[in-house]
Amino acid sequence: MYFGVAYYPEHWAMDMIDEDIKGMKEMGVNIVRIGEFAWHLMEKEEGQFNFSFFDMVINKLKSSGISVMFGTPTATFPAWLAKKHPSILSKDENMQTRVFGGRRQYCYNSHIYREYSKRIVTQLVEHYKDQEAIISWQVDNEFGHEGSDMCYCEECQSKFQSYLRDRYEDIDKLNEVYGTIFWGQTYNDFEEIPAPLKTITTHNPSLQLDWARFRSYSLNDYAKEQVELVKKLKGQHQRVTTNVCGGFLNNFFDHEENVKGLDFVSYDNYPVWGGLREPIPRAEIAMTHDFVRGLLNRNYWIVEELMGAQGHSVIGYLPRPNQAKMWSYQAFAHGCTNMLYFRWRGMTRGAEQFCFGIIDHDNRYGRKYREVQEVIKEITPYADVLNSEIKSDIAVLYDYDNIWSWNFQPQSVGYDFTNELMRLYTPFYNLNTNMDVIPIDRDFSKYKILLIPTLQLIDKDLGIRIKLFVENGGIVVFSFRAGIKDKNNNINFKETIPCNIREISGIEIYDVESLQPGQEVEIIGVGEYEKKEGKCGVWRDIITPVSATELYRYNDKFFGDRACITVNQYGRGKVYYIGGGVDIAIIEDIAREIALDNNIPYIESEEGLEVYMRHHDNQEYLILTNHTSEDKRFKNIAIGPYGSKIIKKDE
Ligand code: GAL
Repeated sequence: MYFGVAYYPEHWAMDMIDEDIKGMKEMGVNIVRIGEFAWHLMEKEEGQFNFSFFDMVINKLKSSGISVMFGTPTATFPAWLAKKHPSILSKDENMQTRVFGGRRQYCYNSHIYREYSKRIVTQLVEHYKDQEAIISWQVDNEFGHEGSDMCYCEECQSKFQSYLRDRYEDIDKLNEVYGTIFWGQTYNDFEEIPAPLKTITTHNPSLQLDWARFRSYSLNDYAKEQVELVKKLKGQHQRVTTNVCGGFLNNFFDHEENVKGLDFVSYDNYPVWGGLREPIPRAEIAMTHDFVRGLLNRNYWIVEELMGAQGHSVIGYLPRPNQAKMWSYQAFAHGCTNMLYFRWRGMTRGAEQFCFGIIDHDNRYGRKYREVQEVIKEITPYADVLNSEIKSDIAVLYDYDNIWSWNFQPQSVGYDFTNELMRLYTPFYNLNTNMDVIPIDRDFSKYKILLIPTLQLIDKDLGIRIKLFVENGGIVVFSFRAGIKDKNNNINFKETIPCNIREISGIEIYDVESLQPGQEVEIIGVGEYEKKEGKCGVWRDIITPVSATELYRYNDKFFGDRACITVNQYGRGKVYYIGGGVDIAIIEDIAREIALDNNIPYIESEEGLEVYMRHHDNQEYLILTNHTSEDKRFKNIAIGPYGSKIIKKDE
C-alpha cells in the first residue's frame, strides 16, 4: 500500500528538504505528491523549460526509497501567460473576468490555453517518462472545483452555438424542442442563441439543460485531451489519475465521463471545510466514498486526506483527537486502497495559510503526526482485506441531466439534490448495509435494491429498464417528482405522472405541493405502520393508489384520503414510492423491512457507530468507526470517542 503526503518543497528553504524527508520516512511515508501548482517554476519565461528543482527533489526522495506522484500543473498558470493572453481567463455570468490571482480560472474552451497546456505537459512528461521513482501522474488538480466548471466568455458562447448546431442540425428542430414559441423566443439561426447569462426572470429550461451538457462536454473534452496526452508520453511503469473533489453533485460535469481512461480514480476527502461548525454528516462522508468507488466500479486512492482544520479566509471545525484518523479508517472501509494526506506542513504565506497540515507552522511533530503514523502502522497489515472488491446488493442511482434539471428549477426553496439522495441513502447507511452509488445508465440488473432519488427525467427506455428489473424480482424505491419530464427537460403531455413508471408503481399523482423551509405537513401510518406518525417537508406528491398499498397518508383536512408513501407488488418485485421529503426515521423502518424481506446483510449498531462489512479469503471483517465523542460498544468491544478498529466478524 502507498501512504504519503502532498508536499510542496518549493514553499520552503532548500535546506529543509532533507529534514522533511527524514520526518516523512519516520512517519511511514512511501509516496509523495508534488508539482501540481508549479508551472511557473518549470517555465519561468515562455518556452524556457527547466525541471532542475524537481530533478533535485525527486532524486532525494528516490534515494530515501520514496515514490512520487507528479501533478501536471495546469490548475494554476503563470502570470506571464495571463498577461500575454487575457482571453484564457474565464468569465462569470455577469461577464466579469476572473482575474489572475486565485486558481483554476482558465477557460476549458480557450484554444490558446489548450495549446499552452499541451506544451508544458508534453515537456514535463517527456522529461520524466523514464524516471522510475514517478509511479503515477495526476492530471491537473480538482477539475471543476470552486466554480471553475462555469465560464460564459465569448469563446464559450460561440462554441455553445456550434455545439447546438451539431446536436440539432436544424434550427427549427431546436425551436420545436425548446418550445421557443413561448415568449416569442424563436431563433432564425444558431448564432442568435444566447448563453444563459443574467437576464430578467429565467432562461428556457431546455436551453439551460443544454448549457449544462455543454459545460460538461467542455470540461471533459479538455480533460480527455490532457489524459490522452499523458498516456501517450508517459513511461510504461507510470499510471494516470486525477483527483476528484467533493461537492460533485453540484458540479456541471459528468464525473463518469471525466474519469474514463484513467488507471484509477483519486479522491480528496474533506469532511470539514472553512465555516463549518461541525463535520458533514457521517452518512454523507460515506456516500462520497461510495460515489467515488462507483465511478470506475473499482477501489480508489485518496490523494488528499484531511488532518487539520481547513479554510481560506474563514476556518472550520477542528477535528478532535483521533477524529481525522477515524475518517481515514472510514475511507479504507469504503474502498480506499492508498492514502496521501493533505498536506505535510501548513504554509506560512499565500492563500492557504489556514489549511492546516500534519505539521503546523511551528514545525513540531505533534498529535496529528502521531495519528498518521498510527494509521500507517495499523492499516498496513490489512492490505489484502482492503484491496478486496466490495460487493453491494443495493445501488443508489443518479443521472447528471436530472441533477442539472433540478439545479435550474428546484421547485421548492428547500430542495437540494444531495439532501434528497441522502434521504434515501441514510436509512440504509444506518443499518450498515453496503451500497454502491452509480450512474443510472450502468447495468443495474445485478443488484437487489435500487434507490432512485427524485428522478424527474425518465424517458421510455429507462422506464422499460426499470420495469424489467422489477419484473425479475428487484425492489425499487423512488422518491417524489419521479417521471414528470422528458430528456429535453419538458413536462410530459397527456400523461398522468409518474410517467413511464406509473404501471410499476401502481399510483397516480393527484396533486402536488411545494413546501417551503420550515413548512411541514403531518403524515400517519396505515396498516402495518398504523399509529406511526411523522412529518414531510420540501415537497409533497399527493398520491392516489391504483394497485399500490398505502403505507402512509396525509393527516390533512383536504387530502387526508390520499397517500404519501406506497408500495406496489409488480411481477416478482416491488416498487416503493415516497411522495415527499419525509422523516428519515420513517424511511428507516421501511429500509429495515426491505433488508429483511430480501436477505440483505445488515447490522444494527449504536447511534453514531459505523460498521462496514468486508470479505476476504472466506473471512468477514468489520471496520468500526465511532463518529461521536461518546464511548460506544459493539458486541463486547468498546470503542472510545472517535475510535476505529478492524475486527474479524466472529471475534
Ligand atoms: C483541495 C485542493 C488543495 C488545497 C486543499 C485545501 O481542494 O486540491 O490544493 O486547496 O483543498 O484544503
